[in-house]
Amino acid sequence: MRVDVFTIFPEYLTGALDASLLGRARAAGVLDVRVHDPRRFATDPHRSVDDTPYGGGAGMVLRPEPLFAAVEAADPPRPLILLSPAGPRLDQARVRALADTPGFSLLCGRYEGVDERVVEHLCDEELSIGDYVLAGGEAAALVVIEAVSRLAPGVLGNESSAEHESFTTGLLEEPQYTRPAEFRGWAVPAVLRSGDHARIARWGRAQALRRTVQRRPDLLAGRTLAPDEVALLEETDD
Ligand code: ADE
Repeated sequence: MRVDVFTIFPEYLTGALDASLLGRARAAGVLDVRVHDPRRFATDPHRSVDDTPYGGGAGMVLRPEPLFAAVEAADPPRPLILLSPAGPRLDQARVRALADTPGFSLLCGRYEGVDERVVEHLCDEELSIGDYVLAGGEAAALVVIEAVSRLAPGVLGNESSAEHESFTTGLLEEPQYTRPAEFRGWAVPAVLRSGDHARIARWGRAQALRRTVQRRPDLLAGRTLAPDEVALLEETDD
């Protein structure tokens, strides 16, 4: 999978792209992330990438010329997505759709915004990672890259771990425990130590359902619980 990122702060991404899952996926050649700095395409003596807004107002706006030039030079995979709080909100369905493509590109906005001609004539769509305002799109780009690439074929060691998890099943995950069996007087639920796989699976489903009902009932909106799910909710196996 190839992901091209356009940012005037390439160093913002460097450490994160080298670490952990992303670093391993890139080293293994499963993920090809290319970071482009539009400042290299600025033509004025100060290499400026931003300017004051027409009509006045606070802050600076990213200029169209360096952004168009950087994208045209790279000929990046499409869609080219502008990260902006004005876009539709990222969710796991969008993440999954992006993971099923051979590649896509991200353009990081900055400051007060990006010249609207970039939005209209260069980018294919906008995407927000949530209803809050960041200083720029770089952190959002990392969120998208991490969420998508862990679903890309060959990135996660254990493929089933992505299938079982929250937002793929439509439910939150059940709680997880590791050794020791008792820590500061808090014991791991006995069922998990029973060795009875059917009972453990049932307990996990009940926990996942119960947590979703209690914490994220919005995830269940428009979905009627099946009779066996209602039965599970009433169970008290611990
Ligand atoms: N840039 C600034 N805020 C953002 C957000 N919430 N999502 C994506 N890009 C952004």
